[in-house]
Amino acid sequence: MSATQRPSPEPLRGVDAVVLVGGKGTRLRPLTLSAPKPMLPTAGVPFLTHLLSRIRAAGITHVVLGTSYKASVFEEHFGDGAALGLDLEYVVESEPLDTAGAIRNVADRLRADDVMVFNGDILSGVDLPAVVGTHREVNADVTLHLVKVTDPRRFGCVPTDAEGRVTAFLEKTENPPTDQINAGCYVFRREVIEEIPAGRPVSVERETFPGLLAAGARLQGHVDASYWLDLGTPAAFVQGSADLVRGIAPSAALPGEPGGAIVLDGALVRDDAALVGGSTVGAGCMVGSGARIDGSVLFDGAVVGAGAVVERCVVGANARIGDGAVLRDVVIGDDAVIGARCELLDGARVWPGVSLPDGAVRFSTDA
Ligand code: GTP
Repeated sequence: MSATQRPSPEPLRGVDAVVLVGGKGTRLRPLTLSAPKPMLPTAGVPFLTHLLSRIRAAGITHVVLGTSYKASVFEEHFGDGAALGLDLEYVVESEPLDTAGAIRNVADRLRADDVMVFNGDILSGVDLPAVVGTHREVNADVTLHLVKVTDPRRFGCVPTDAEGRVTAFLEKTENPPTDQINAGCYVFRREVIEEIPAGRPVSVERETFPGLLAAGARLQGHVDASYWLDLGTPAAFVQGSADLVRGIAPSAALPGEPGGAIVLDGALVRDDAALVGGSTVGAGCMVGSGARIDGSVLFDGAVVGAGAVVERCVVGANARIGDGAVLRDVVIGDDAVIGARCELLDGARVWPGVSLPDGAVRFSTDA
């Protein structure tokens, strides 16, 4: 029976979670100028709420957040974690320590023998108890969730042998020997974390995992083909949010029923406006007559004028989109003002507070 077919064990016991949320999220600028990536509203709640809810649903209660960039924002929002049924702790890096450095930096907060580590920007449907089950079954030093993707050329890949042992960590190539990639979710034996060098930046992919492999440690792959998306880019961010809204990506934290759109309290949407494709309309937003919002995220307070078209876009908090404007695959920063009949396409980004005059046209450029 393969890992994907194995029934889930009982809810997890004796497992701590560490979530890495210290990255600067540069690929998602300008959205990450005001909020760290895991706090960006995704299907109506901060992205991290979806991940923490999945961790809690698996039975894990003790969670340590490794923070660095905009560290205080996390504790201000989640506090001690009680609202989510969690015992949440925060550890702040004064200088970013990279992924493995961040894991090492929380070692003195860990209590359990098995530690589940999550990149804080991955949306995934993996069966968490099954990953821990694989780890315990073979008594691994580290177990990595490896996900099968349709185009592995875009990623480094991680081959495994017949017993599921990781055999190599390979750079991106045009002809990858496997479709398995590192999914950014691991189970570590606690002692392995204590052996990571302390107090300096260390990368799991570039240093820790290759070093463990060379030293003969048991690195096990837990392979599946569940829903998986790295929300690092604007295109992936809108896709992930839309998949959550439509119920394609699993979450226990969706503020409403899955469907074509989520409209948060206090938003005003004219009856003849169309909200489709898994869009989210934030609190206090206004969407004018005849506007069409498709597969997009409107942060709180955004205003979309009559007849405007907004497809696969993120519109920042309190930004204003003029009547008849057409926006496809673009990111609009907080408080930006887009004039009437503007046309913004193909990856254009408008920085916070910038105003574009009526009729302006932008393709793939920043403003
Ligand atoms: P980009 O700048 O757009 O590449 O995003 P990022 O800074 O988030 O980097 P990346 O997507 O590679 O990070 C993967 C995960 O590790 C994310 O959840 C980050 O928050 C986290 N991370 C990256 N670097 C650090 C770090 O130095 N400290 C901590 N605590 N977390 C980190």
